[in-house]
Amino acid sequence: MGRLDTILVLDFGGQYCHLIARRVRENRVYSEIVPCDISPDDVERMRLKFNVKGLILSGGPSSVYEEDAPKIDPRILDLEIPILGLCYGHQLIAHILGGKVTRGTRQEYGITYVTIVKPVGVLKGLGPREKVWMSHGDTVQSLPGSLEVLAYSEACPVAAYRDVERSIYGLQWHPEVTHTEHGAEMLRNFIFEVCGCRPNWSPSSNIEDEIKKIKGKGKAVIALSGGIDSSTAAILAAKVLGKNLIPVFVDHGFMREGEGDFVKETFKRVGVNVLVVDAKESFMKKLRGVVDPEEKRKIIGREFIKVFEEIAEKVGAEYLIQGTIYPDRIESGFRRHSEKIKSHHNVAGLPTRIKFKAIIEPLKDLYKDEVREVARKLGLPEEIVHRQPFPGPGLAVRVVGEVTPEKVEIVRKADKIVAEEIERSGLKGKLWQYFAVLTGVKSTGVKGDSRAYGDVIAVRIVESREAMTASFAKVPYEVLERISTRITNEIPEVTRVVYDITHKPPATIEWE
Ligand code: XMP
Repeated sequence: MGRLDTILVLDFGGQYCHLIARRVRENRVYSEIVPCDISPDDVERMRLKFNVKGLILSGGPSSVYEEDAPKIDPRILDLEIPILGLCYGHQLIAHILGGKVTRGTRQEYGITYVTIVKPVGVLKGLGPREKVWMSHGDTVQSLPGSLEVLAYSEACPVAAYRDVERSIYGLQWHPEVTHTEHGAEMLRNFIFEVCGCRPNWSPSSNIEDEIKKIKGKGKAVIALSGGIDSSTAAILAAKVLGKNLIPVFVDHGFMREGEGDFVKETFKRVGVNVLVVDAKESFMKKLRGVVDPEEKRKIIGREFIKVFEEIAEKVGAEYLIQGTIYPDRIESGFRRHSEKIKSHHNVAGLPTRIKFKAIIEPLKDLYKDEVREVARKLGLPEEIVHRQPFPGPGLAVRVVGEVTPEKVEIVRKADKIVAEEIERSGLKGKLWQYFAVLTGVKSTGVKGDSRAYGDVIAVRIVESREAMTASFAKVPYEVLERISTRITNEIPEVTRVVYDITHKPPATIEWE
């Protein structure tokens, strides 16, 4: 296959940046996110690998007049590659080309109606009045002679424009969000009409190429967690490498009930043997007396790497396969989170001291939904394709405070009850996660006819799209009642069950 037709998204820090790339890809055209200050030379270099057919400048939180506002190299506009500026991108291009941008006197947030005066290019085929999603403070007031107005709104005299000679467009609104009624058409117009892309990409394109390079050259290991990313990477790699792939499942003792067997059996059914390593004792020993959640996370992360490295050395692995996906790579690359909330122990991207000959990340260009598509194609069972996420440190971060084998056992039993009842209720498909937490609080109860002083379990059930934000789920009382009754009946240590009714933010999904 030749170079893929590609749209580059220049990242100005906007919350919808990944969404733009995903929307482009939904049209079967490849898209990558690049830093906003990419140089024209770097774009040229990218053209060796990709057939760069268009650039989209994302929105962002800045104002063009701020001193350290992100900018583009103006020569980008002269590359003769079609350009679409969205929100901040729209303002920035107008500003660079000599238009007038004013700081928000009349801001627009939410659904707005725009009048289309010229339905051409990106706006081809659209009606005279369109429902769009706006979210801006600054406004383009007037344009230089080289640009013409295509649409306006009540607060925004230049809601859309185009360059009269070159394929450069600006939209003040966000076509990538579903609230913009014909946003998908607008993006399709840009991708296919303006840029002339061919829909020749799919999530399965080229993902085996890197693995093929190490075929027959030695053994490879992968740390399998049972989640969708590492499972898909393992199946892909096993397909190419056969017995030379050794998937390793490290049982740190904080897994859900039956997890090790589930992973082993599931992979066996598709012809892959998983090496299950029992490291329960060493993890528990390291956590003795540790109460602080960040400390717990760090200890588990370090121990995990140690155990995994020992195995890799023992089996003589020369290559490491990882289930890193696209957002992991971009977020930890040029797009760093400003504030660290917790130390995620992420088996997808394992730092290791071992000198592997190469680290292969076959899913590094895919979003989660795209990994699911690949997984389905590879025949992974639906139980894995639609598994709820599970934190790397496992149940250890669902036992508040010091972890002991007894406490882990209590939370494991409670977790199983929550899962069974949610699955029985038919609600599973709507929920992001559902689990139990051992709160560390003791409470008085009455069991039989006597006083009982026991543990409090919290039930956490949330809805979410990407886990950045989440809402507690409004699960029917009858389901909560069954969960509570079963937990107090079946787990003697528990005297009370509470339901966590906090959204994220302000809470996080996990308790620690
Ligand atoms: P929080 O608790 O930060 O969790 O709101 C967001 C999502 O991430 C999962 N999570 C983890 N995933 N390694 C992971 O791979 C971890 O250390 C980890 N900690 C939390 C959590 O279950 C939720 O889906």
